[in-house]
Amino acid sequence: MKNLLKETITRKLPTPAIRKQIVLTILATVFVLIVFYSFTSVSYYYSSTNHFCSTKCHEMVQPYQEYLLSSHYDSRKGVVADCADCHLPPGLIEKWYVKTKQGVNDSLVHIFGDPENLDHVALKISARKNIHPGSCMKCHKNLFPSDLPRGGFKAHKAFKNQEASNCVDCHVNLVHVSPS
Ligand code: HEC
Ligand code: HEC
Ligand code: HEC
Repeated sequence: MKNLLKETITRKLPTPAIRKQIVLTILATVFVLIVFYSFTSVSYYYSSTNHFCSTKCHEMVQPYQEYLLSSHYDSRKGVVADCADCHLPPGLIEKWYVKTKQGVNDSLVHIFGDPENLDHVALKISARKNIHPGSCMKCHKNLFPSDLPRGGFKAHKAFKNQEASNCVDCHVNLVHVSPS
């Protein structure tokens, strides 16, 4: 009986060669995952920076010039909002989704479209749809500061009561106002 048990246990255990293969496979998988994670993190981080957003494509020159003159860059107190602060929604999954969708879209326009003759007015309207109020509220947490004009108070109350859905429905031409 004892012998039979011992035999079954030893038979079930993988041989040293197989054990080595299993360990090597696990190590290789961990290595690949680490490399993949590092690569995607670095590229995800880099492609969200102002530098990448404003210098890699000709079509971003005008929006970037406008941004440099805006109160969100040239602010009185020196607080700066980056492109991605406004143009990507909060929340990891939503951020990945919107970033990928817009990245693919922008790349297609860059390759197949006519980046020299973009209709910036139409692009502004479509860009507004992708701007999430949660992005603005990362910084603008208090929508009722004491110096808010009466009109603003009423408007923000309407926003709270869900009578207005997006900040940029009212705050149009917030950043990208053509200097000319
Ligand atoms: C990174 C933080 C940050 C984010 C994100 C941000 N803001 Fe601001 N915003 C500021 C600061 C700081 C100022 C004050 C600038 C100044 O006048 O010194 C400001 C100013 C403003 C003003 C008044 C000045 C003006 O130019 O009219 C409005 C309106 C405004 N923000 C709306 C928004 C909206 C809408 C969003 C989202 C699309 C947004 N902000 C995103 C930090 C931020
Ligand atoms: C229904 C329209 C409406 C909506 C929606 C709205 N606002 Fe406003 N907001 C106003 C009005 C009107 C004012 C008063 C000052 C003005 O005329 O710019 C104001 C003022 C402000 C100011 C102060 C501007 C200054 O000059 O000091 C900030 C900052 C601001 N809003 C941010 C936001 C953010 C962030 C959201 C979304 C979470 C938002 N607003 C949603 C209409 C709106
Ligand atoms: C404070 C928020 C905010 C910041 C920061 C910001 N944007 Fe925008 N952007 C907007 C909003 C809001 C619109 C929609 C148009 C409007 O109402 O001004 C827009 C529109 C655009 C558009 C479409 C319109 C066009 O002219 O083609 C592009 C492209 C763009 N932004 C690129 C950028 C880049 C690049 C940066 C950084 C250098 C940046 N934005 C920084 C809020 C922002």
